[in-house]
Amino acid sequence: IGERIALTPPMGWNSWNCWARDVTQEQVLSSARAMVESGLVNHGWTYINIDDGWQGRRGGRYNAIQTNDKFPDMKELSEQVHAMGLKLGIYSSPWIGTYAAHIGSYSDNPDGENQWIKDGNHNENFRYEKPGGNYWQDRKEMYRHGAYSFVEADARQWADWQIDYLKYDWNPNDLYHVKEMHDALRATDRDIVYSISNSAPYADAPLWVEYTDCWRTTGDIRDTWKSISSIGFEQQRWAPFCGPGHWPDADMLVVGLVGWGPKLHYTKLTADEQYTHMSLWAMLASPLLIGCDLARLDPFTKSLLTNDEVIAVNQDPLGVHAAAIWEKEGRVIYVKHLEDGAMAVGLFNKTREPAKIGFTLKQLGIRGTQVVRDLWRQKDLTTTDKGFETQVPPHGVVLVKIAPGNPTRNDLKK
Ligand code: DGJ
Repeated sequence: IGERIALTPPMGWNSWNCWARDVTQEQVLSSARAMVESGLVNHGWTYINIDDGWQGRRGGRYNAIQTNDKFPDMKELSEQVHAMGLKLGIYSSPWIGTYAAHIGSYSDNPDGENQWIKDGNHNENFRYEKPGGNYWQDRKEMYRHGAYSFVEADARQWADWQIDYLKYDWNPNDLYHVKEMHDALRATDRDIVYSISNSAPYADAPLWVEYTDCWRTTGDIRDTWKSISSIGFEQQRWAPFCGPGHWPDADMLVVGLVGWGPKLHYTKLTADEQYTHMSLWAMLASPLLIGCDLARLDPFTKSLLTNDEVIAVNQDPLGVHAAAIWEKEGRVIYVKHLEDGAMAVGLFNKTREPAKIGFTLKQLGIRGTQVVRDLWRQKDLTTTDKGFETQVPPHGVVLVKIAPGNPTRNDLKK
């Protein structure tokens, strides 16, 4: 794996799903504090990632994007976050503007000069103006080309701010811009995790492996069963491209308080759907980025995010992606091989009724006595030399670990 970083999937928090474009420095800092005070920091959660909404005008030593009024001092924020033992992430795009952080992104109402041609400003100076044009369709023309490419300047600025993670967001992801930022980041003296977004084309998967640390495989996740199941159960094809330092990213965890401003609400997913969400993301070795307001973490969400045995499946150093070994009538079994030779097995029920799901050891390609351990409950269930079957709730999961062993384990006696 040579020079690779992010040898296990990055774990952290991202501002988008709770604050969106309104994110402030104060909110980011309080999220970092909450990461520590809630104890999440002790379970591997590390990155505090600012998404779209921090950008202001260009300036400073390198003529790089500076912060807007909501972020009075990025360097100070970075120092505070680092002092808590956490890492800081930032967001940008090869586009002139971004999806949400500049005026004009929600309408093509021409108003004022086409300033970006002159200075590449973000935010308040951005106005889309092209007679008869449509902002959304014209995105492709809106790259900072040639003299207006500020990629190196921005990368240097982030390194100066001691940024640890970049989410680089545009669509369609193209090799030219992926590589340009890759080279600029690697030219800095800093290990900055390079995560591209969104909906990376599958045909170019080997390129994303080569030039990025993580790539978003889909559009935006939402807190509905339809969204998490259609993303989570459709990731199989990325499996061959997953490994230490290169992770297909299934998007953020929609648990806890999500949505922003007046729309802030507790996730619409049921408890079982949330177990499925977290179990799947663990099995897929996806980056784990919490999207909720950490300062208002309820006990259930906290329990979801602090189960070390489930997190260990995601963080397993082998870094393999789970494979579906069996599927029938909305029931599916995923297997993920672990570094210690054991296997994590997810019995998922996509139907609305409780369902029996089981497997034989033969299906797993193993034999001999095995201990079946329930990872959510952190309890050994049984030993077997044949197989295992259990009842799985609607939209739910039973996540077990299968490891060679004998029936004398303490948990079994309880
Ligand atoms: C689109 C991405 O998919 C989202 O995750 C978020 O970063 C927004 N852009 C920000 O504008």
